[in-house]
Amino acid sequence: TTVYVPRDSAARSVGADQVAERIAETAGPGVRVVRNGSRGMLWLEPLVEVATPAGRVAYGPVRPDDVDGLLAAGLLDGAEHPLRLGPAEEIPWLRDQTRVTFARVGVVDPLSPDDYVAHGGLAGLTRALSLTPEQVVAEVTDSGLRGRGGAGFPAGIKWKTVLGAASELKFVCCNADEGDSGTFADRMLMEGDPFTLIEGMAIAAWAVGASEGYVYVRSEYPDAVATLRTAIDAAYERGWLGKRVLDRDFGFDLFVRVGGGAYICGEETSMLESLEGKRGMVRAKPPIPALEGLFGRPTVVNNVLTLGSVPMIMAAGAAAFAGLGVGRSRGTQVFQLGGNVARGGIVETAFGVTLGELVEGYGGGTRSGRPVRAVQVGGPLGAYLPTSRFDLPMDYEAFAAAEAMVGHGGVVVFDDTVDMAAQARFAMEFCAAESCGKCTPCRIGAVRGVEVIDRIVAGRDRTRDLKLLDDLCHLMTEGSLCAMGGLTPMPVRSALTHFPGDFGATTEERR
Ligand code: NAI
Ligand code: SF4
Repeated sequence: TTVYVPRDSAARSVGADQVAERIAETAGPGVRVVRNGSRGMLWLEPLVEVATPAGRVAYGPVRPDDVDGLLAAGLLDGAEHPLRLGPAEEIPWLRDQTRVTFARVGVVDPLSPDDYVAHGGLAGLTRALSLTPEQVVAEVTDSGLRGRGGAGFPAGIKWKTVLGAASELKFVCCNADEGDSGTFADRMLMEGDPFTLIEGMAIAAWAVGASEGYVYVRSEYPDAVATLRTAIDAAYERGWLGKRVLDRDFGFDLFVRVGGGAYICGEETSMLESLEGKRGMVRAKPPIPALEGLFGRPTVVNNVLTLGSVPMIMAAGAAAFAGLGVGRSRGTQVFQLGGNVARGGIVETAFGVTLGELVEGYGGGTRSGRPVRAVQVGGPLGAYLPTSRFDLPMDYEAFAAAEAMVGHGGVVVFDDTVDMAAQARFAMEFCAAESCGKCTPCRIGAVRGVEVIDRIVAGRDRTRDLKLLDDLCHLMTEGSLCAMGGLTPMPVRSALTHFPGDFGATTEERR
């Protein structure tokens, strides 16, 4: 009998290791414990699954103390128990998703190359290597895949730029410096299905003519680093990486680098500086990394989920991916529900799902049971939206039109106890702490932003200070060198627009 207990760090943080040990000790020699990735239903972790003739049956959340009782009740046969959730894939929360990038996460043993191949792994790379680089780039372009790191730039166009750049040496860099609060999809993919990322990077390398790749993983993700390193070793052993990838006349070497520990190292040019061994300072663009990136060479810089979507696109064809979604937002997005939410975790579904469906439907409202008041979408630099905007479809353009952003897909929920002036202040404080210091609007502006919000709340000359804050936001948006300073006004402005009462301002004063 095979029992699955996640090795994902979210599951480990609530006792999955102890549960796995207890099952291995108690269940006897006929039982194999596989440490899978997490299915993403984080409120049910540790989620234990047992393989039965009728499929995998789930139990959760399982504490180490529950194990003996579960075994006595017949866990290994999938028997009834108060913690029994039924067949894992029929749990409505999971069943109602469209898992493409996360198709294997939680299903396979992340460190088993055989399991990977048995679940469709390598089909994308095999097909890509039977095509010319130009054809692969065209396929990725046709799929409509856009950068999942937040900016949503078309991946195919970026790859085309790198393919067209003349250089003997090119790189593929994966940005796994997932610094946004409330985002964890990159980590869960790296921990739950690392071969997908490796395969995606190999496909990108073939498509653009690169021979070397780096995964830049934030230092706060030690489990992801360890899992990736083990998986990369296994990929070399199997001939999926190295001088002859899948026995073709194409070589690709892949390395993991641990991040420098600063939020700004997730900005692509700062990440490249850090990869080169320097302090993570933002570079001016142009030149874009596609033309002059790592060590000045043409470089693909893509997020984990962007590269992780490519194997499925190549395996199933561009049309299958492009057939999902709305408008110019094609395919699926891996949304991450967090904050004060009853059912937090990973919801992968086609673009077009509404914010309300995510928060009230999948999320089940707040964890505190109080009414939802605000939702911040797209990380700490994303807009706060009120429940009156729950009709908004998850779509890059619809969000931009609402002065918000989809970003990396993080959705953080707040109940009615939240103080939105404090949240606006926090955005400025965060920027002041994380600014790389290269440009004035961000370095000084963020400090002044904290001060002016404090004055507005204190209410001495609110009309003047609201005008000043508006000017400052405008200056930071237009004058900052990168998205750190450029986007900090977004949460501030959205808080002022949707929750003016929290600033002590009357509607008249806001005008
Ligand atoms: P950007 O719009 O400047 O660039 C997007 C990407 O397209 C970059 O890789 C850029 O090099 C590339 N690009 C632009 N023009 C190109 C061209 N003509 N040819 C080829 N490539 C081209 O946005 P940026 O500053 O890279 O990212 C900002 C976003 O980052 C924000 O919207 C935010 O959502 C996100 N973000 C994500 C975080 C995370 O943890 N995932 C953290 C903080 C911000
Ligand atoms: Fe650095 Fe901020 Fe300027 Fe970005 S906006 S370059 S983080 S000082």
